[in-house]
Amino acid sequence: MSNKHHLELTQVGMDFPTPKGPFNALQDVNLRINKGEFISLIGHSGCGKSTVLNIVAGLYKATKGGVILDNQEVNEPGPERAVVFQNHSLLPWLSAYKNVELAVKQTQNGRSKKEMKEWVEHNLELVHMSHAADKLPAEISGGMKQRVGIARALAMEPKVLLMDEPFGALDALTRAHLQDSVMEIHAKLGNTVIMITHDVDEAVLLSDRIVMMTNGPAATIGEILPIELARPRNRIELADNPQYNHYRHEVLKFLYEKQRKVESVEEHRKKQSEQKSGATQINVA
Ligand SMILES: Nc1ncnc2c1ncn2[C@@H]1O[C@H](COP(=O)(O)OP(=O)(O)OP(=O)(O)O)[C@@H](O)[C@H]1O
Ligand SMILES: [Mg+2]
Repeated sequence: MSNKHHLELTQVGMDFPTPKGPFNALQDVNLRINKGEFISLIGHSGCGKSTVLNIVAGLYKATKGGVILDNQEVNEPGPERAVVFQNHSLLPWLSAYKNVELAVKQTQNGRSKKEMKEWVEHNLELVHMSHAADKLPAEISGGMKQRVGIARALAMEPKVLLMDEPFGALDALTRAHLQDSVMEIHAKLGNTVIMITHDVDEAVLLSDRIVMMTNGPAATIGEILPIELARPRNRIELADNPQYNHYRHEVLKFLYEKQRKVESVEEHRKKQSEQKSGATQINVA
């Protein structure tokens, strides 16, 4: 299989219908991703990161351009593109084990009963959750639920793993552990990953390339920063590595100088609710 053009976003544009007419969220998004690459998407709140991810997932259909994965156009969700959401979406009445098993069953993998059991156990082991396989989501912590969500996605053997702020709701320590697990798994399995994050350190630590998005409307890719740090990466060693700090600086500069956001979080929320209710849209410079 050729390494080139594994996943291609070409001239992707997205207009959302609103009561006031179409809202142009994305415009001319072009990105080529190699097999096994770890890509982070970073940008201010509301710029369109989740929209990009949802288009790649096949949950949204781009109004312009399109996505091609291994020479096939993406038109709908599929098991070769698994999604991990910020808030885990486990079924509350199923144990961790059963949640993973259900996802595997949906992939029509032709495994025997024994193979299935081994596969589910293997994936729970990858995220260090074997000990809690029989627990219900309500009986485990937020970080553990997120681990099960990742195991469930991995167990589907996706070509592409899509993660929308997967560690956003977690405390710093749990987050660090999970980042290390994800790096370990990525090294082992070599999946292609697209991860949305707001965390600059997380982006630099995990990524092969950081894709930085401009502010919307008509958001697009502003800059792409390749992260050429040797793997495996160790967060403590990198803390005073000049190259690491240079990358960090570049991302911060993009976000807080080049794409400085004037509106506050409250303004953004207000704008969003107005957009939804069809009230006049306030444009913030
Ligand atoms: N279904 C929708 N209908 C109308 N507008 C939408 C819809 N979904 C998203 N938008 C708008 O598109 C823009 C991009 O939204 P998106 O959720 O992709 O941003 P984001 O970068 O993921 O933000 P955050 O970091 O806050 O999650 C926003 O202005 C948002 O209000
Ligand atoms: Mg989002």
